[in-house]
Amino acid sequence: MGTVDQATTGSHLERYDQALARDPMSAIGLIRDWMRTDWRALFAELRERRPIFVTPGFTVVTRYPDVAEVLSHEKVFTVRAFGPRLEAALGAPFMLSRDATPMNWREKGLMRVMLSPADVAGVRELAGRLADEALDAAAPQGRVEAVHRLFRRVALGVCAEYFGFPGPDPHTLSRWTRAIIVDGFANFGGDPRIQAASEQAGAEMKAYLTERLARLRAARSAGRDLPDDVFTRLVATVLPAGIGVDDERIVVNMAGLPLGFVESGPGAMAEATEQLLLRPQVLAQAVEAAADPESFDRYVWEALRFNPFFKLLPRICERDHVLAAGTPRRTLVPAGTLVLAAPASAVFDADVVDEPEEFRPERPDHHRLFFGLGHHSCLGIHPARVVICETVRRLLLRPGVRLLPQPEGEIIRAGGVFPDRFVLGLDPAGPDVRP
Ligand code: HEM
Repeated sequence: MGTVDQATTGSHLERYDQALARDPMSAIGLIRDWMRTDWRALFAELRERRPIFVTPGFTVVTRYPDVAEVLSHEKVFTVRAFGPRLEAALGAPFMLSRDATPMNWREKGLMRVMLSPADVAGVRELAGRLADEALDAAAPQGRVEAVHRLFRRVALGVCAEYFGFPGPDPHTLSRWTRAIIVDGFANFGGDPRIQAASEQAGAEMKAYLTERLARLRAARSAGRDLPDDVFTRLVATVLPAGIGVDDERIVVNMAGLPLGFVESGPGAMAEATEQLLLRPQVLAQAVEAAADPESFDRYVWEALRFNPFFKLLPRICERDHVLAAGTPRRTLVPAGTLVLAAPASAVFDADVVDEPEEFRPERPDHHRLFFGLGHHSCLGIHPARVVICETVRRLLLRPGVRLLPQPEGEIIRAGGVFPDRFVLGLDPAGPDVRP
């Protein structure tokens, strides 16, 4: 369970240096473990003492301007760290598996048109309705397993009603995103069985979408009324012949929507909820602000800063690059280096973020890097923002919502990252929050 004051100063680097002298693999293992379990303290130490931290396995980039530099140079720092696995699962290129191609430019533009920011009011309402339905169903038990019964239920419902991608059923869609994102995408060890399962899920997803595309097209030709969802919009859009957006590209981009959302959305909801419930005073202020969703949302984003869902964005350095040139941090990153840009550290960089250890809902948006930056910045940012905030808002407005004592109340995370279980109390007769 995360705690409020995790960022005590430590001596991770001494322990790392000693381990490195004995056995480089175990030293790298220490860093990997700390990045999962003790990341705030580790990153605080790195920002201070080795802001561009070169290990024999990878280089960790911890200061805000340097993270921004890595994410802004898509031709130097590419997504080849995970792109090929994602591409294999989808059986075709996708914007998040390639860098700086005409396909990136064209399809991100097209999908941004489809995911119009003008949709957000309706999407917020949809998420609120789905969240309340899930919470009403759980209320009689006095508790809710929030990851599957609430967060994923809302995310899958948004996929169904807003994206127009219900899957054959929510369970199957959920299984596909787990196999491709949680297992396949994060399969850094390259386990062939996991990769095969991810490719199988991708093939099933594409077959389903291809059939649905044909049915939508037939329904349109027959003049039937269709809902105004993203899939229908894509099918209805007449694009110039020869620009390279055929049915397969539509299917791949539709597949990318739940892949981008069903794991990361609930991930962000779980972490933000926990961080708010850990701070009773802040929580009381947030609930007071909840009548105005926009004021409330600021609490969610600031809470997420204390445990961002994506802590590291991996890149491969394609050619020698001097990072942070013109600063004392100047470091040559050789071609072939696995670079871990750490937004979770950047958002605590005191040179950019005032008093980063303080909880301040009024911080400007650019002090938070939850949706990435630059070339691969999140396509789904507008709907994702309102779905996350509205779901958390509906949850926290329930009287008696609270963290349960450990171990029951602990967030269980698949692969140490993706929330899989988070039981919360929902009993109006119970104490308001866990002390
Ligand atoms: C409607 C929901 C969402 C959709 C459809 C979506 C989709 C996508 C897509 C397609 C990309 C790749 C963009 C590109 O390569 O140009 C992306 C990137 C990204 N998304 Fe989302 N996403 C959603 C929600 C979220 C959430 C909830 C988070 C985290 C809180 C998130 C964080 C990110 C990040 C950090 C990146 C950049 C990845 C990188 O640079 O390696 N997304 N998203």
